[in-house]
Amino acid sequence: MKTKFKNPRAKHDFQGRPCSITGVGSYVPEKILTNAQLEKLVDTSDEWITTRTGIKERRIAAATEFTSDLAAKAARRAMEMAGITAEQIDLIIVASITPDMPFPNTACLVQQKIGARRVPAFDIEAACSGFLYALEVGQNFIASRNFETVLVIGAEKLSAITNWTDRNTCVLFGDGAGAAILQSRADSHGLLATVLGADGNKAELLSMPGGGSRCPASAQSVADGLHFLRMDGKETFKNAVQAMCSAANEVLTRCEIDITRIKCVIPHQANRRIIDAVGERLGATPEQLFVNLHKYGNTSAASVAIALDEAVRSGKVQRGDLILIVAFGAGLTWGAAVIEW
Ligand code: UT7
Repeated sequence: MKTKFKNPRAKHDFQGRPCSITGVGSYVPEKILTNAQLEKLVDTSDEWITTRTGIKERRIAAATEFTSDLAAKAARRAMEMAGITAEQIDLIIVASITPDMPFPNTACLVQQKIGARRVPAFDIEAACSGFLYALEVGQNFIASRNFETVLVIGAEKLSAITNWTDRNTCVLFGDGAGAAILQSRADSHGLLATVLGADGNKAELLSMPGGGSRCPASAQSVADGLHFLRMDGKETFKNAVQAMCSAANEVLTRCEIDITRIKCVIPHQANRRIIDAVGERLGATPEQLFVNLHKYGNTSAASVAIALDEAVRSGKVQRGDLILIVAFGAGLTWGAAVIEW
């Protein structure tokens, strides 16, 4: 569904003070795990992984490198681009399904690592949609609570919850982090609109069942592999395409813009076939679609945050360009956002 664009400028859908993204940053671990290396671990092939997913390699964090370390490195790069110091940050939000530990939250650990003040810090768990959920929450603190500077991060060490003997999942995921600095700017409209959604009826499709109150960690839960991520790939695939398309169309409608006005579409990087199906249904050209999946695999909450940083730093988007971000993940959760960069 395309909407007719009415205003020369895209419509702003938020109440309160406008919220700009003044800096972005990302970090991926140095270690590369290629498809050829995976061929030696499980019964798979570069040909299968490439044609079924589009992934060629992924990054794997060191044993001593945790989600908070990746997050802090991405945050420092975003702060540098925004030209701010850690003392200026008023709120820290981390989206992740692989926190350093169940508690304390990873945002508190990031606060300590970057040397921020004793400002509020909390995590959001909305799987691969987490960065978009965190953006909307951060935007609301700026719009309604008069916070000046919010640090939003999507960060994952998925290698820590990957079953390296399960070829259905171990070829898909990677580690990394992406961050954004949100600030109120009277003269620009950064975040124009967001759409978020969830369907708990489909929670079983994608989960890590162990380690919580339902299946606390025990010798048995470990023996049963409940501390590993598991996924019904086919069902997840179908739901992903449908939910991402409808969220993207809804957010474009709210801004009263047509897909042709979007300079860069940043879809969650889970599978090249999902990205292409979503792009095709939205009427986006291949040139509009941002893809870095071949380098990093699926990095869950970090995925669109890393992609946003790469789109900006590579010059694919310039100040004033419109960006559409759309994501989907466990929960099920989904989200979409239009940003005027
Ligand atoms: O980030 C959150 C959202 N996540 C997603 O959106 C992921 C969604 N799902 C997917 O991306 C795809 O469903 C997968 C990439 C996970 C799987 O692709 P598929 O085309 O749905 O394959 P399939 O599950 O139907 O498996 C086809 C065959 C099976 O063999 P049989 O049963 O036909 O004999 C699998 O056992 O491929 C086999 N297979 C593999 N073969 C070689 C599964 N994994 C592998 C592998 N290498 N790594």
